[in-house]
Amino acid sequence: MENFIAFNPTKLYFGHNVLGQLPKEISSLGSKVLLLTGQGSVKKYGYYQQVVDSLKKSGKRIIEFSGIKPNPIVDDAEKAVSLAQKEQIDFIVALGGGSVIDTAKMVNMAYANNLPVWDIMKHEAKPVKKIPLIALLTLAATGTEMNGAAVIQNHETHEKIGYFNPLMYPIASFLDPSWTFTVPKNQTVNGIIDLIAHSLEAFFSGGDAPLSDRFVAANILETMDYTPKLLNNLTDYDLRARMMWTATVAENGTTMHGRATSGDWGTHALAHHISLLWDTPHGQTLSIIFPAWMKAMQYKIENRLQKLGYLLTGKNISAPDTIHIFETFFKTIDAPTKFSDIGLTGTDKQSLLKLWQKNQPQGMNITLNDNDYQNILALI
Ligand code: NZQ
Ligand code: ZN
Repeated sequence: MENFIAFNPTKLYFGHNVLGQLPKEISSLGSKVLLLTGQGSVKKYGYYQQVVDSLKKSGKRIIEFSGIKPNPIVDDAEKAVSLAQKEQIDFIVALGGGSVIDTAKMVNMAYANNLPVWDIMKHEAKPVKKIPLIALLTLAATGTEMNGAAVIQNHETHEKIGYFNPLMYPIASFLDPSWTFTVPKNQTVNGIIDLIAHSLEAFFSGGDAPLSDRFVAANILETMDYTPKLLNNLTDYDLRARMMWTATVAENGTTMHGRATSGDWGTHALAHHISLLWDTPHGQTLSIIFPAWMKAMQYKIENRLQKLGYLLTGKNISAPDTIHIFETFFKTIDAPTKFSDIGLTGTDKQSLLKLWQKNQPQGMNITLNDNDYQNILALI
């Protein structure tokens, strides 16, 4: 097992009506709050009003920035930073899914340190302080509610990249599974794919970490167990709660301890380029890329695939049979596994290849070369 530091400073409030505990949590955080939201779902379904009521009852003055898009862009983050500077806010509340919370994390870094968002993302400027960030999660998927990462797109530089900083963990996150009842079926499927992909990214990291491997397998088995029931009953509290917790655990460090790198992430790096080019939802990019990546990289990860197959089935199964488990699962839940499933063509594949060749997406453990890019593309 490799050396590691276990660190997760986010206080997680999980369950029925957790919003009731928000006033106590924010009582000492200052009076001016920047409230960040997405493109309207939180207003449509009433979560926004509940939050506004709670903030007002706590005596806070609300400065609002809304309209953050799925696959968030750096321009919106910069606009929110300008507003924060103008209003001299004391803390941030992010109400929404991963896109809103990720934007809030970068707004926090840029505002607290007076630095441009993209310079921070590209490691050209180093933030050293933060203001408090509270996340109110409405969608189970990314795990951003309990980690220090953010992912942002830049259409000028043609990049969608991740950035990690321990300062970016929310100080507290509120997860009420009933707030996810309204997430439509296709978006629920996207979240399920994302949390499975995160579990797999951890598994394909380097080093020997048997307990973390078992956590990965347990998270995937738990997800495969509740998924068919949940997709038939989107408003079942217990099934939504199971999904919400597996999504958090997939990306809050639990599956990483003892590994040589904090995940492989080659698959995410490849998949982000699909979102960048066609604004494809994050989950869909992963159900397309992951099975193809496992097939193309089998020559490097055969033993790991066999071990994963054993942990999932209790039997000695082959690497292709392990990959088949995921491909079949994705197909059963109507997730795309081929380029054509999302309406893209051979010409689009060439555009993707060109962008991969320019940006050179890489895994942290399993390196990718031009041949790998071509092999992966041939499989999708
Ligand atoms: O924009 P609104 O109107 O809020 O609607 C959103 C959006 O259309 C909607 N939604 C959210 N909560 C809802 C709801 N609809 C009905 N009821 C609710 N309760 O869902 C749509 C998708 O929202 P989004 O926030 O984009 O989804 P997700 O949470 O999957 O976040 C995706 C982003 O996170 C990044 C992805 O790359 C992508 O940009 N990731 C962040 C990570 C991290 N910070 O650790 C790791 C991930 O691997 C991922 O890369
Ligand atoms: Zn992801």
